[in-house]
Amino acid sequence: MIAAAMTSAVAAGWTPALADDKPFDNKLPGLHARARAKGLFFGSALSSVALSNDNDLLARLLAECGMLVSEDAFKWDAIRFDQTKFDFSRADALMGFALLHQLPVRGHTLVWHEANPAWLEPALTSKTASEKLLTDHIRAVAGRYAGRLAQWDVVNEAILGDDKKPQALRNTLWLRALGPAYIDIAFHATAEADPRALRVINEYGIEYGIDWQVRKRNQLLDLCADLVARKVPIQAVGIQAHLDAGEVNLDQTGLARFIADVASLGLKVVITEFDVRDQRLPASIPARDTAIAAHARAWLDAVLPNPAVLGVLSWGLSDRGTWLNSYFPRADGLPQRPSPLDADLNRKKLWGAMAAAFDAAPPRIAKS
Ligand code: G3I
Repeated sequence: MIAAAMTSAVAAGWTPALADDKPFDNKLPGLHARARAKGLFFGSALSSVALSNDNDLLARLLAECGMLVSEDAFKWDAIRFDQTKFDFSRADALMGFALLHQLPVRGHTLVWHEANPAWLEPALTSKTASEKLLTDHIRAVAGRYAGRLAQWDVVNEAILGDDKKPQALRNTLWLRALGPAYIDIAFHATAEADPRALRVINEYGIEYGIDWQVRKRNQLLDLCADLVARKVPIQAVGIQAHLDAGEVNLDQTGLARFIADVASLGLKVVITEFDVRDQRLPASIPARDTAIAAHARAWLDAVLPNPAVLGVLSWGLSDRGTWLNSYFPRADGLPQRPSPLDADLNRKKLWGAMAAAFDAAPPRIAKS
């Protein structure tokens, strides 16, 4: 019903054109409503801090999103303060909010080389000990939310990229402890603990047609082909999509081909951490917003047509609190504008570009 209404409304032309510098009207249907009209979803990340104290942002999340992911709550350093205890308070808080508002949640992440507690690596004293630590963690965490999570980023950022070896796995604590088999172990343990969550391998630095990213795409495809051939229960590739509006080599054709290559392995695609950094752009806000919106639209137009693509989550709905200001600060010190809403929660040109990209996406044909 909603999908039909949305589709007819789109046909009636309410797709927002890129306005001038005025924010888009908050009464226009939100990003998830538009995505859902095409069989896609839109969601966003939020931090545990924002969940606990930013009610204005939470209200906007409910208006725009159909899925949530936590920036921090499901990571080892949030749950495993020591080796014997699990602290699920942050993760449970998000799950409680999502349950109250009937929103699906994606888990992020079970295996990563960052956000690990200091006790972890020293505890990886043997293959047996390491495999037990990893499988016990996954069984406890994925098992706790079994049946209640839409997706898991099972393994995050496994590929190094600037290495020349075929699969070029990043030299992480888990690779040193278990070898490449850590990936198999993680996916099998997750499938056993929560068979219903979509199992994703999540990666960045595969978004553009620049040499090291094309090499990383090929390494990821080699890895996924090997995992699929060995019946490791991987189901999807997560493309983080931390975009850079200053990057000129967008290569839509190559990007669409990469998505098709992933799909040819029988895998789905999720855009998991979408934002658009602007530290290479001039200070002018109207100029930045226009460039960011155009860049995002061009990137999404190359991605959304493939039916293997399930949806898009932004890494933060609003510019307030974006990780980019600390990780990739602008030389002039100005706050960046990477998200669909500005720091005052107004819909920006980027919001309009994402809305238009969802409106222009071909509808997914529901399987009969
Ligand atoms: O909330 C706690 C606070 O209670 C505590 O007092 C404080 C001091 O330790 O830490 C706070 O948690 C911080 C958390 O962000 C809050 O959101 C962690 O220290 C901090 O390390 C954490 O940073 C996150 C980072 O990943 C590392 O986990 C960023 O928010 C998050 O945006 C970033 O996200 C990553 C993805 O997971 C993977 N892809 C790249 C992306 C950006 O780096």
